[in-house]
Amino acid sequence: MSEAESSESQPQVVSGLEGVLACHSSVCFIDGPAGTLRYRGYEIGDFVTSAEFLDVAWLLWSGEWPSAQESALFVEKVAVNRELPSSVLSLLETAPMETANPMAVMRTAVSLLGVEDSSADDYSIDSLWEKAQGLLGRLPTIVAAMSRRVAGRDIVAPHPELGHSANYLYMLTGEPPSDSAAYALNALLNTYAEHELNASTFAARTTVGTLSDYYSAIVTGLGTVKGALHGGAVDDAMEVFSRIGAVENVSPYLDAALAARVKVPGFGHRVYRTRDPRAEAMDNLAETMGAEMGEPHWHAVASSLERELRTRKGLSANVDYYSALVLHHLGFPHKMFTSVIASSRVAGWTAHIGEQYANNRLIRPRALYGGQPARTYQPSSAR
Ligand SMILES: CC(C)(COP(=O)(O)OP(=O)(O)OC[C@H]1O[C@@H](n2cnc3c(N)ncnc32)[C@H](O)[C@@H]1OP(=O)(O)O)[C@@H](O)C(=O)NCCC(=O)NCCS
Repeated sequence: MSEAESSESQPQVVSGLEGVLACHSSVCFIDGPAGTLRYRGYEIGDFVTSAEFLDVAWLLWSGEWPSAQESALFVEKVAVNRELPSSVLSLLETAPMETANPMAVMRTAVSLLGVEDSSADDYSIDSLWEKAQGLLGRLPTIVAAMSRRVAGRDIVAPHPELGHSANYLYMLTGEPPSDSAAYALNALLNTYAEHELNASTFAARTTVGTLSDYYSAIVTGLGTVKGALHGGAVDDAMEVFSRIGAVENVSPYLDAALAARVKVPGFGHRVYRTRDPRAEAMDNLAETMGAEMGEPHWHAVASSLERELRTRKGLSANVDYYSALVLHHLGFPHKMFTSVIASSRVAGWTAHIGEQYANNRLIRPRALYGGQPARTYQPSSAR
């Protein structure tokens, strides 16, 4: 047997499951080398700034855009779910926001919502959509409440008359937002709504693959998206911009980061070999918002760093890079950014959870053992 034949017959571990096809899905299409992203067949760039986020959620769940009537009814159903039960409110009022990671608080809040929901273990599809509508309505209330606490301010109750994004910003600032701010948040929520089998979606699918419940899967997703290699990168990108501060500091920062082999937050991607197709809309918004708010230096720093990193390492910005600036200009405290993303990604998680339930098989890969060979057990008295 040749060496090549013998290595082919050996079991191989695919590091990080890179390129492994783990399930069939009709929610989202990605072509990494071409930099293409489609939700249910629709190119992200065609609707990201023009579609309403709740219509996008509907599209992801049902496969088609809602009719005007379906859309209006859905908006109403999500809006009536904005209020939080008193147990969750008291968690948000008392959690130590000075030290706690907001994603940990959010994860706990969703877990508590599951405890409060007497239908948590109802696995029917109708019940799944009910719960998902509930979370679409309540997660912004949770994120805004945490943001107010982080800023040392009182929690603001939802405004029943405002649309999804406008109400989100109202609960953040206490004032009805400008149309342009609501437009920017809506685009950001659309940008993050879905992204195929990313780590958190895979984790959520794995959870319901055991026939566990919807809330457990969302808690899994939240715990997974929190990490610095996933959604956590958006908080870290803002931290880098703050540290750099001015365009003249970009090169020295990059020299030091590359010498220390630091992964610069907001760069690189497991799937895309081009610039992340979601970066474009966030880049444009970050530039416009920075100029309008008299803070153009943020975008100048970011685009200078992107140019240098592309030249020196061939790396392009991913979605989290310019989104950090959009979230900053919208007024979210810097440590809250990942939680805003999660309040959007719940749409995609839900679509995948529905798919998993509909055609379930336990997800249970194998590990290639590399530990000790078989050994003889010695009782503790003999060790
Ligand atoms: C997204 C990410 C986790 C993908 O990881 P991955 O597919 O395992 O890719 P690798 O970490 O193996 O990176 C491949 C190469 O690109 C380099 N690279 C990747 N991302 C980089 C980054 N952000 N900064 C500097 N170098 C980076 C790696 O050092 C490696 O180079 P090498 O082969 O010379 O060692 C990785 O790019 C990263 O850590 N990015 C920063 C965090 C981030 O922005 N996450 C959000 C993703 S949407």
